[in-house]
Amino acid sequence: MSKPRILTGDTPTGRLHLGHWVGSLENRVAMQAAYDCYFIIANVHAFTAPSRLENPGEVRQSVMDITLDYLAAGIDPTVSTIFVQSEIPAIAELTFLFAMLIPFNRLMRNPTLKDEIRDKGLGENYSFGFPMYAVGQCADILAFRPALVPVGEDQLPHLELCREVGRRFDQLFCKVDPHTQDKDYVKAGGVFPVIEAKLGRVRRLVGTGAPSAETGQLLKMSKSLNNSIFLSDDPDAVKKKVMGMYTDPNRKRATDPGETDAEKNPLWAYHETFNPDTAWVSEYQAKYKAGGVGDVEVKRKLVEVLVALIEPMRQRRLEFEKDMGAVLNVLKQGTAKANVVAEETLYMAKEAMGQGYWRRELRGL
Ligand code: TRP
Repeated sequence: MSKPRILTGDTPTGRLHLGHWVGSLENRVAMQAAYDCYFIIANVHAFTAPSRLENPGEVRQSVMDITLDYLAAGIDPTVSTIFVQSEIPAIAELTFLFAMLIPFNRLMRNPTLKDEIRDKGLGENYSFGFPMYAVGQCADILAFRPALVPVGEDQLPHLELCREVGRRFDQLFCKVDPHTQDKDYVKAGGVFPVIEAKLGRVRRLVGTGAPSAETGQLLKMSKSLNNSIFLSDDPDAVKKKVMGMYTDPNRKRATDPGETDAEKNPLWAYHETFNPDTAWVSEYQAKYKAGGVGDVEVKRKLVEVLVALIEPMRQRRLEFEKDMGAVLNVLKQGTAKANVVAEETLYMAKEAMGQGYWRRELRGL
């Protein structure tokens, strides 16, 4: 019996942080024994940001950093497959084919794209490749015909597009009845499954900074907002970031009446997410609400908790870093394995479209 496949990945825009860990990475590590896992490093997508066109070396650095983060986090390259998007030609080819199945206006209604245009201030000045990346992500996923796609919540609009593309292709070219249930598309003769998302334990981890001046909401952890704790941060860096973390400026003192709302202090979101000692968390949260414990004590405990999580990863990272040739080889081997699956899928798709003239073989996979 072969294991069901998983496909997910990251755009290489820096190192991975705690938000990545609880959003998806932790799931991946846990699932690699039961699933045949494929992890894509989407380096082509990194070039949707104009600044990276000027600094392509940063993208390469980040590809290596993320590979190290994966290995350090416990992804085992003898079990799971880590690969580089730009070395999988079938993904580029499927992107072109899928682009024909997606109405342009439908693509531009994608809320994740809209958010990115707003948050990055792109206005009307984005490349054709920018919205195209959402089509490319359908190809990243469907090239592997996965059973599950573990992602963070922000990726759901992309996965919805991917589900639509799968249905459309199967209905058009494989004569799958449109009334077929999503889970039965392949059984009904479709090439592509209608994929399922798997969300992480924590939907949205807030960053270490103050709330947005505009909305008053705490912002999500994001490298570009400078509010991240990285999986590769050393204990001093973790300590500095936590001790400097934003907390609730209106928390009450012991003598004030009423209770402090723990929701307004992100320290508690962190403790609830990362502190395995749930008894400590409830005890101290109750004390905090009554004004009986200060931020500094809660922060010190959080440093302890986060260092215990991050430090073993960082140590493993240091080991892997000693042999970057071996790390590149992980990518090379993974990419060769990924190409076997993606080529097979592409041929199935071409045949379904009546364009399967002969089978090609990629050399030097
Ligand atoms: N867009 C994803 C992100 O920014 C990365 C990504 C690219 C991805 N291709 C994918 C995620 C395929 C899941 C599946 O995080």
